Amino acid sequence: MSVIAAKCPEIRVTVFDLNQARINAWNSDSLPIYEPGLLEVVTQARGRNLFFTTNEVDSICAADIIFISVNTPTKTYGVGKGRAADLKYIEMVARRIAELTVSGHKIIVEKSTVPVRCCSAIRKIVSSVGTQATFSILSNPEFLAEGTAISDLFNPDRVLIGGEDDEVGQAAIQKLVDVYSHWVPRERIITTSVWSSELSKLAANAFLAQRISSINAISAICEETGADVDEVSRAIGADGRLGPKFLKASVGFGGSCFQKDILNLVYLCECLNLPEVAHYWNEVVKMNDYQRKRFSENIVKTMFDTVSDKLIAILGFAFKKDTGDTRESSAINVCGALLEECANLRIYDPKVPANQIQDDLEYIGCSSDKIKRLVTLQSSAAEACRGAHALCVMTEWDEFKTLDFQAIYDSMKKPAFVFDGRLILNHEQLRSIGFEVFCIGKARVRVESPAFFFNEPPKTPGATVSPTKSKNDSPKK
Ligand code: UGA
Repeated sequence: MSVIAAKCPEIRVTVFDLNQARINAWNSDSLPIYEPGLLEVVTQARGRNLFFTTNEVDSICAADIIFISVNTPTKTYGVGKGRAADLKYIEMVARRIAELTVSGHKIIVEKSTVPVRCCSAIRKIVSSVGTQATFSILSNPEFLAEGTAISDLFNPDRVLIGGEDDEVGQAAIQKLVDVYSHWVPRERIITTSVWSSELSKLAANAFLAQRISSINAISAICEETGADVDEVSRAIGADGRLGPKFLKASVGFGGSCFQKDILNLVYLCECLNLPEVAHYWNEVVKMNDYQRKRFSENIVKTMFDTVSDKLIAILGFAFKKDTGDTRESSAINVCGALLEECANLRIYDPKVPANQIQDDLEYIGCSSDKIKRLVTLQSSAAEACRGAHALCVMTEWDEFKTLDFQAIYDSMKKPAFVFDGRLILNHEQLRSIGFEVFCIGKARVRVESPAFFFNEPPKTPGATVSPTKSKNDSPKK
């Protein structure tokens, strides 16, 4: 909304939230979220045509277009628990809009990521309130990524607007196209049906996550064979049909969207009685869980099968660099697994506040007593590493690449282990300093002889699909 306000000075943008503390923060120079470049954009428009308020009635009544931007977390109760999106906030907002709009016409835009056909649910809610007003419902999903949000918004690959097919629906689409046309070339604004738009959002995130799970699956093979996952992704990504982006192996994807949206897609497929499709997408999430588990198990295995009472420095807790967001961060799972093994953790992240780390660990079931005993939060990477047995890179913050690793090595217990979950460090240099280095997708054991290639693979039921003979089977080239 801040970018719309900055790019369209003649449009008045009002951001309404129930939470007074959050609105106060938006009206200050300490914004409630960290996002590079956001403060500059906000200050450019705030007070001119961008306003933050808790006044619900005025903001809804005055608006021609209302963007619903509430959260739609995965349901933690009842039907669809653990997979379906919880739409209670969407429903609440739709009801309030209808109740407060007594006449005229308003455009309601689904900005939150929602399940397919949510638009018709909103239509049903607003139609049942009994107001004289009329409504158009549009789907306008967001594709920005955290950390690069401002540049993604200034220069989007595409803007997607889905609307209803009738004349009123098409006019509503045009109105929103006119807003984005202030700075987005018309050919990058795609207009579709509402359902295509809703599904495209889930599908786009599922495809992105699938690429990460695919390269992470390859990383497991690399570790066993001596292949190097960075080399493999470069070779794969050079194919113009595939492209180089989203092929960076890691300790697993995090963030509020990928897992949630895939599970949402899985739930949709189950409801549509498409179990094979549901299973296919569910494996993307399972592979991600496997990657996280593999990483923490490798730490324990490498450190002589025990980390109990050992000091482990955790560098980074956010789900990616340049954000303070920790939602679904792989760091949470890895720290949880290490705490289960009674490791002492020293955690440092440049942007994540201490209480957030504490909340995240409690959320996955670590008792506050355990956290108090075993976790210390540090104010620098060097401090987190002092006296530690191992350091683990969990987030790819740039500052970790340029640490004084010689000084860090000197300050650590020996053997000093490095576990690079983001493949950002110079491993050769670290080895020459004396570190024992483990990283995702690089040889764990050098394979001296190809003998094992000729051994029978262990029989894992269901692990592979047996080839089916067809009458067209011919010898391979
Ligand atoms: C993602 C999508 O990229 C956006 O297009 C989408 O709008 C957004 O979700 C959303 O639905 O709101 P975001 O979660 O902010 O954006 O961040 P990403 O850059 O996609 O990274 C997600 C996770 O994947 C991070 O943990 C990141 O470290 C990891 N990742 C990403 C990898 O492990 N390897 C890669 O090659 C790329």
